[in-house]
Amino acid sequence: MSKSYDVVVIGAGPGGYIAAIRAAQLGMTVACIDEWKNKDGKNAFGGTCLNAGCIPSKALLESTELFHRAQHEFKKHGISTGDVAMDVATMQKRRASIVRQLTGGIAGLFKANKVDGLVGHGRLLSGSKVEFTPVEGDVETIDAKNVILAAGSTPIELGVAPFDGDKIVDSWAALEFESVPESLGVIGAGVVGLELGSVWARLGAKVTIIEAMDDFLFMADRDVAKVAAKDFKKQGLDIKLGAKMTSAQASANGVTVTYEDAAGTQTLDVEKLIVAVGRRPFSDGLLADDAGVTLDERGFVVVDDECRTSVKNVYAIGDCVRGPMLAHKASEEGVMAADLIAGETSEVNYDVIPSVIYTAPEIAWVGKTEEEVKSSGRSYKTGSFPFAANGRAKALEQTSGMVKVISAEDDDEILGVHIVGPMAGELIAEAVLALEFSASTEDLQRTIHAHPSLAEAVHEAALAADKRALNYINR
Ligand code: FAD
Ligand code: NAI
Repeated sequence: MSKSYDVVVIGAGPGGYIAAIRAAQLGMTVACIDEWKNKDGKNAFGGTCLNAGCIPSKALLESTELFHRAQHEFKKHGISTGDVAMDVATMQKRRASIVRQLTGGIAGLFKANKVDGLVGHGRLLSGSKVEFTPVEGDVETIDAKNVILAAGSTPIELGVAPFDGDKIVDSWAALEFESVPESLGVIGAGVVGLELGSVWARLGAKVTIIEAMDDFLFMADRDVAKVAAKDFKKQGLDIKLGAKMTSAQASANGVTVTYEDAAGTQTLDVEKLIVAVGRRPFSDGLLADDAGVTLDERGFVVVDDECRTSVKNVYAIGDCVRGPMLAHKASEEGVMAADLIAGETSEVNYDVIPSVIYTAPEIAWVGKTEEEVKSSGRSYKTGSFPFAANGRAKALEQTSGMVKVISAEDDDEILGVHIVGPMAGELIAEAVLALEFSASTEDLQRTIHAHPSLAEAVHEAALAADKRALNYINR
C-alpha cells in the first residue's frame, strides 16, 4: 500500500524543514524529502544554508575575524601575544563540526515533531502524488493531500568560467579550501564575494574582486555603501567596479582572468578563482512533465503572495520562488504555507525582510533606502549617528560606521534603517520590529536603550532625524 501524508515537503533547507515542523505542529502528518549529499558522501538535512551557506560561512568569518583582531587590535588593549598563527585545518574542523551539530539537530527535531525525514529524490507528479526515489531501496509513489516545493537554489555557472572544483570554484568549494591561496580572484562583489573574500583576505590571500556594476553594493543605501567600500579597501580587498570578465583560463599554476573595464582589456593571474555571480532556482528533476506547475523564464516556480503555485494544494517557498534568496525569508514562507494548509490565517510581510552582510564592519538594513524613498516622491527626513561617538563601540575598538534612520515627514513613520558597523546584524532586529509595528520615529526616540550599548546608536540616529541627537552635534 502506498504511503500517504497530509503534507509532503520536497527539500529540507531552512524553507522546507521549517515548513515540515510547522505543519506537524498543526497536527498534520508530514514527510520531508531531501537528497543533499555533503562532500564526505553523507546525506544531511539543512540544505544550502546549513551545509554550504549561512552557517559554515559565519563559522569561518568568526574564526578569521578573531585571528585578524588578535593580530591587529590586541596590542591596543595592552595584550601581547607573540606571533599569532592560524591552523587552517583546525579552523575547518570547527566549521565542519558546527555544520554537523546543526544538521544533526534537524533529524532530532523531525523525530520529536513526528516528521518523516526521507532521504532521496522527490518529484511532483500530477494529481497530488510525489515520486520518492530513496538513496537505498525502491522507488515509491506517495499520496500527498498537499505538497510544498522547497527545492532551493544553486550557484550560477558562467560559460566563460566553468567550475572545475579546484581552481575555478563556487561558494561551497571556497568554504572548504584546505590552505590559504596566495592570491584569490572573485567574480562578483555581492554578498558571497564580500563575505568569502573577507575570510581569505584576513588569512593573508591577496584578494581581487571583479564586479560588473559601476556602483558598489548597488542594493544598499549609498551612505552605507560608501563607508563599507572605504573599510574594505583599508583591509586590502581590491574591488574593481565596472569590470566584466571575458574569460578565465585554468592552468597547473592557477587561473588567468581577462576582463574589460573603462581602461580596456585587463588580465589578472590568481591561484584560485571564486565565481559568485548569484544563484539560480534549483528545479532540476523536481517536476514531472504533466505536474502542471508553472515555471518562469528563469526557472523560478511561479507563486502568488501566499506561495500558491498554479496547481491546487501545491505551494512553493524559499529560493526556488521570487524574492530575496535569504534563509529567514524561506523559513517565514514555510511557516505561512503550513499555516494556510491548516486553514489558519497567515502572511509574510515582504516589505520588512532584513538583509545582513557579515563582513567587518557588518552591513544590515531593513525597509527602503534613501534613494528609494526619494524616488517615491514622499517627503522624508534622515538621522545618522556614527559609532565613533558611541561608548560601547569605543570599548570594542570598532568605531567605523554609523546608523541611519529614514522617516516620513508627514506621519513620522520609520521607512528604513541602515547600519554599517559592529554587530549591525544584531542591531537591525530592533529596526525590523519597529517597521513591523509601523513605529514612528518618536516611538524609537522614547524607547529607553541600555547604556553603554551599541543600540544607543540606533536611538541617537532616531533622535538625529529631528535634530535632537544628544551625544552628537546636530546638522
Ligand atoms: P536550500 O537551502 O537550497 O535547500 C533546498 C534543499 O532541497 C536542498 O537540501 C536540496 O538538496 C533539496 N532538494 C532540491 N530538490 C530536491 C528534490 N527534487 N528532491 C529532494 N531534495 C531536493 N542566507 C541568509 O539568510 N543568511 C546568510 O548568512 C546566508 N549566507 C549564505 C552564504 C552562502 C555561501 C550561500 C551560498 C548562501 C547563503 N545564504 C544566506 C542564502 C541561504 O542559504 C538560502 O537563501 C537558503 O538556504 C534558502 O533556503 P531553501 O530552503 O529555499 O533552499
Ligand atoms: P549576489 O546577487 O549577491 O551578487 C552577485 C554579484 O555579481 C552582483 O554584484 C552582480 O552585479 C555581479 N555579477 C554578476 N555577473 C557578473 C559578471 N559576469 N562579472 C562580474 N560581476 C558580475 O550573489 P551571490 O553573492 O552569488 O550570492 C547569492 C545569493 O546568496 C544572494 O542572493 C544572497 O541573498 C545569498 N547570500 C546571502 C548572504 C547573507 O545573507 N549574508 C551571504 C551569502 C549569500
